Amino acid sequence: MTAVGIDAIEIRTGKLRLDLPETFAPAKGEDPGKYAKGIGIQYSSLPDVYEDIVTMGANAARELMDRRGLVPDDIGRIDVATESAFDNSKPVSTYIAGCLESVYDGDFHHANKGERKFACLSGTQSVDDAYNWIRAGRNRGRAALVIATDTALYARGDPGEATQGAGAVAMLIDEDPNIVALSTEQGYGSADETDFLKPNQQFPSVDGKRSIQVYLARMREALEDYESVAGDTHPDDFVYFPFHTPYPGMVRKAALLGYRHITRNTEVEEALAEDIGMQPREGDYGSREDYEEAIRGYMDELKETRRYQEWYERAIDPTVDISGQVGNWYTGSVHVARLSALRAAIENDVALAGEKLLVGSYGSGAQAEIHAETVQDGWHKEVDAVDVDQQLDGRYDLSFEEYELVHDAHNHEKEVDVDAFTQPSGEFVFTGWGRMNERRYEYVE
Ligand code: CAA
Repeated sequence: MTAVGIDAIEIRTGKLRLDLPETFAPAKGEDPGKYAKGIGIQYSSLPDVYEDIVTMGANAARELMDRRGLVPDDIGRIDVATESAFDNSKPVSTYIAGCLESVYDGDFHHANKGERKFACLSGTQSVDDAYNWIRAGRNRGRAALVIATDTALYARGDPGEATQGAGAVAMLIDEDPNIVALSTEQGYGSADETDFLKPNQQFPSVDGKRSIQVYLARMREALEDYESVAGDTHPDDFVYFPFHTPYPGMVRKAALLGYRHITRNTEVEEALAEDIGMQPREGDYGSREDYEEAIRGYMDELKETRRYQEWYERAIDPTVDISGQVGNWYTGSVHVARLSALRAAIENDVALAGEKLLVGSYGSGAQAEIHAETVQDGWHKEVDAVDVDQQLDGRYDLSFEEYELVHDAHNHEKEVDVDAFTQPSGEFVFTGWGRMNERRYEYVE
């Protein structure tokens, strides 16, 4: 069976950044350690006043197409995943296609376009749709462009303000991919949950503490479902475990639970037992409460073991590096985690071709999905070509007062006149509204 997966990837960060420990924490009267260590985000990327989900998505897509020498005729599908859409009817993919058509010869009239919604999960669902379309033989030799783009802004004063971010990830999905091939096996954990939602409102209603528990519960279900088709997982089967990363502290919790699960009934559990005993089994306890307390005790000890910490440093830490520099990109976040790990492998000379990743995606509301990916021979060249450092280092540093202005400029309820902090060059920009309240864009040389 021909491999199908991610052939090329590109990101576009919002061009501003807010330093959480240095700028945000003092203004809120909080300890910088909460952000630097607890949440784990140093900088939130934020969009300048002329940036939004369309400009970031179109700029990432154009960069990818230029690098690969693609023209509209090579793309048979444009799927946009976002939870920051501004229109309940016209999909963001049409705006992005319109932007791209203004700079390329040819058009995307032949391309199927859509917009996917399931909170942060929809980026992965769009990759899935593209995979299925190619596997079904409906692509007529063309590749799919998947763009996950979000401005993850929270209402001022909401605890989620600590995890904001803005950026887009563009991915080319094709046969014989250069970066990773996707497994056919998948696992799901899905339930009707009220943890994070945007009922026709720009900023989310969030039950933050509950959202953490829902993330963990759905991820666990998805892992069990994945194992039911792919067989038991083992920590050594996968070189990296990129998870949806709303903030690195969330992944710290998920990794510990995941490790306990995948080491149960293995030689790792036996080896760990010498120091911390075997994992508690429910049948050995008189009540659920006693069992849960025993689990908490086991986990507290597990996270202090050298074996766990070495696994975490090898398999998880590299996945959250970019997230700590940009914040939450919602639909793009798990794809940033994969990119982060692959970049770390380049920096550390890790040979990856043929190695596997276990990818855990999540969307509030809520659903988790887990699948495996096999790294392909062309991964190094493709990943090395993404100018992550240049983009991150080029961001404008906001003072707290400037941050307040930028937040107001992107608040749909407010009409404020704020000057841009950066100068656009060689990119698509938002220019204002048209006669039918559509958003308008142009390419600036
Ligand atoms: N030094 C070191 N660590 C510190 C510290 C200090 N001085 N002060 C606090 N911390 C630690 C805390 O112990 C905590 O870590 P643990 O959870 O491991 O104990 C961490 O920093 C955060 O501190 P708080 O729990 O006090 O933070 P909070 O209550 O103000 O907000 C939050 C945390 C609930 C996650 C909030 O940011 C939020 O609502 N975020 C949005 C929702 C979200 O991201 N949920 C994640 C799952 S849902 C999802 O994944 C979908 C999505 O993308 C939104």
